[in-house]
Amino acid sequence: MYMHGTSRINERGHLEIGGCDTTELAQQFGTPLYVYDEAFIRNKCRAFVKAFEESGFKFQVAYASKAFSTLAMCKLAEEEGLSLDVVSGGELYTALQAGFPADRIHFHGNNKSLEEIQMALDANIGCFVVDNFYELAMLEELAEASNKIVQVLLRVTPGVEAHTHEYISTGQQDSKFGFDVLSGQALQAMETAYRSASLKLLGVHSHIGSQIFETDGFLIAIARLVDLLKQARESFGFISEVLNVGGGFGIRYVEGDTPLSPEEYVKAITKAVREELDKASLPLPEIWIEPGRSIVGDAGTTLYRIGSIKEIPGVRKYVAVDGGMTDNLRPALYEARYEAFIANRMKEEADDLVSIAGKCCESGDMLIWDVKLPKGTAGDILAVPCTGAYGYAMANNYNRIAKPAVVFVKDGEADVVVERESLNDIIRHDRPLNRQHVHR
Ligand code: LLP
Repeated sequence: MYMHGTSRINERGHLEIGGCDTTELAQQFGTPLYVYDEAFIRNKCRAFVKAFEESGFKFQVAYASKAFSTLAMCKLAEEEGLSLDVVSGGELYTALQAGFPADRIHFHGNNKSLEEIQMALDANIGCFVVDNFYELAMLEELAEASNKIVQVLLRVTPGVEAHTHEYISTGQQDSKFGFDVLSGQALQAMETAYRSASLKLLGVHSHIGSQIFETDGFLIAIARLVDLLKQARESFGFISEVLNVGGGFGIRYVEGDTPLSPEEYVKAITKAVREELDKASLPLPEIWIEPGRSIVGDAGTTLYRIGSIKEIPGVRKYVAVDGGMTDNLRPALYEARYEAFIANRMKEEADDLVSIAGKCCESGDMLIWDVKLPKGTAGDILAVPCTGAYGYAMANNYNRIAKPAVVFVKDGEADVVVERESLNDIIRHDRPLNRQHVHR
């Protein structure tokens, strides 16, 4: 039985996280419930920072807030000295409301709106990661109108395909993201940004994919980025101050997943950057990375209450829980796999082969196919570890199911950082149809 972070089995034979008995958390805050192991998140942040400190490089570790963006998480990232990657006005607003220092915010996105760009300009964020020519022109215009010189990185697609699910790999040439390197568009965009009076080109960015277990993808991407920097120096004299290699560092969801440690990823990246730049006779830039999943993924556990159990003799036993694809879309969307425990039966033998069903009106709403658990019954608490990244972040209200609460646990204390939605929240933006106003 694999235990992440501070998770352990306590004297009562219950799953405990951050010194809190999960059955008590379920009792106190209701289910489904997202439980985050705060110390574990902080340790992850520190591991990335420490590895960079030891490398001698200047760096920024920007937490990719898309993985889990809330006021509390932005604050935690700020306290740990991280920077922040945001991809929408909503994530930017969350960061600013959390008091996150604007100069450590990096703004991503392949279709930033004029309003979003203006909002980020007004907040004086640290850097725009410009994705395409449309944005480049709009940003230049708005920066000029605001009388500002705006720092930019250009997101480029170096033509690297990370070994991961198709929908979460982004570095290949045929991608909706970034300026294409192979066709020369990236170099062209760099020259435009470099020559612009209202933009300050810091360097280039690439993100090759997500849930990556090896370092080869990063190494190939770095070599291609440095090649691009070399061309930029030769053709218009640009010297890069920053190389951003994105996020995508994997975590262990299930047995057989073999991620590297933050140290190992950082070591491989810093070594490759040093070697490639030396080879190209270019000065060493700052290295920026953008881990999302690897900061929060394995620190989050979802607690559910088991309800109906349907056994079809000789076929399958369906154990249904009080959540599903509304709080964790990943199994339905990516066939993502998870492990599970019965939090109140941690010492009992796991010899019952079951499948965990969500409660949505949809056959595809299955959280886990074929998992061995102790024999459970209605009212038991099912714990699904590793739901901290892209769980709450992708939660939705399908079937008008309310979103769960989120608690941070540490040293035996639990803090609600997101309240559970109420039924009133569900209809909050609805308005009754008023036929009197219909024009004929
Ligand atoms: N930087 C950029 C530019 C990205 O596009 C992403 C993720 C990250 C950083 C963070 O990647 P991470 O370290 O979290 O792997 N919803 C999918 C993941 C989508 C990732 C999108 N971009 C999932 O649930 O697996």
